Amino acid sequence: MLTKEQLLDAVHHIYDPEFQLSLTELQFIRDIVIKEGLVSATVLLSNEEENYRSALQQQITESFQRAGATEVHLRYRAMTEFDRNDAARKVQEKSAASETPAAPVRDLLDPEQGVHFIAIASGKGGVGKSTVTVNLAVALARLGKKVALIDADIYGFSVPDMMGIEERPQLVQNRIIPIERFGVKVISMGFFVEDNTPVIWRGPMLGKMLRNFFSEVDWGDVEYVLLDLPPGTGDVALDVHQMIPQSKEIIITTPHATAAFVAARAGAMAKHTNHEMLGIVENMSYYQCGHCGEKEYIFGRGGGGKLAEELHTELLAQIPLGAPDNHISEPDYSPSVYKKDSETGQIYLELANQVIHKVS
Ligand SMILES: Nc1ncnc2c1ncn2[C@@H]1O[C@H](COP(=O)(O)OP(=O)(O)OP(=O)(O)O)[C@@H](O)[C@H]1O
Ligand SMILES: [Mg+2]
Repeated sequence: MLTKEQLLDAVHHIYDPEFQLSLTELQFIRDIVIKEGLVSATVLLSNEEENYRSALQQQITESFQRAGATEVHLRYRAMTEFDRNDAARKVQEKSAASETPAAPVRDLLDPEQGVHFIAIASGKGGVGKSTVTVNLAVALARLGKKVALIDADIYGFSVPDMMGIEERPQLVQNRIIPIERFGVKVISMGFFVEDNTPVIWRGPMLGKMLRNFFSEVDWGDVEYVLLDLPPGTGDVALDVHQMIPQSKEIIITTPHATAAFVAARAGAMAKHTNHEMLGIVENMSYYQCGHCGEKEYIFGRGGGGKLAEELHTELLAQIPLGAPDNHISEPDYSPSVYKKDSETGQIYLELANQVIHKVS
């Protein structure tokens, strides 16, 4: 049975931008009523901007749903003078209580931390790197792992759209809190540009963007970091190789022989930089007829296997053609995440299991 404590625990990561404490600590979520799976609650607003309210609406609703709520109704209330004094007092108490300075933020890049980095690469664009990265991340989270996803495709970012993320990260004590979706913590350049217009904190973040994704983001406790690389063997790919020498790689290819040939270049680069290869994922491998179940190899056959052979690694998965069966009316709609129980969702779970097995 869903409890109030579980719900409050589910939103502990959402911070109030003004008071810089979590909504749970501030007791900004009140009057929680649970009837079967239906949850209603009142949320105190420290500012009345429409954007803020809609971002909160989405974050709280998603968090409650992840905890098990089937339906969420939120009411909003502006803070009174009394509420403000009360919140200010909580902030003071908290800072007085922590006489020791705040714990230093974990440096994910420090090899001592034991974080598994997996870069997803390909020789050319459009083969499904981002789709595979997103779904592998979600599958790892579905298996109970703590997962972060860095959309390292600085100019061609696509992860926010693919996962249906519309909110923007909050800044807490000058650190960026990643957006959590399907249990995956996500950071993307897409969060920092709006309609291609740079937003305020884009300036200082440009240039060493990728490094900033580590140093300025409060990742918290993370076991796996997946990096969605831009296509090819360009600068960002090189940066990743240099910045995270311990990173492992998965190479995506389509089944066509020439695609595999191009992908071999990305593989050669991984070899050159001593990145351990976890294996190959062949995407768009076949189309399976919904009526007779027969597989048609529309884009050719054998590319993944051939590439695996060439790079002395394994073919980890073959993913069929087909968009996820998701509908825009669903509460956690995302265009590119396959449902757990779907055939493709199951293939991704198997892939995630293999990855866990291989890195540990
Ligand atoms: N198995 C699949 N079945 C059907 N469509 C797919 C499949 N995998 C990917 N797609 C679609 O193909 C397109 C390209 O996929 P995706 O963006 O993941 O590729 P990418 O390699 O990351 O591309 P880019 O090089 O532009 O970053 C997208 O529209 C995606 O939805
Ligand atoms: Mg991509």
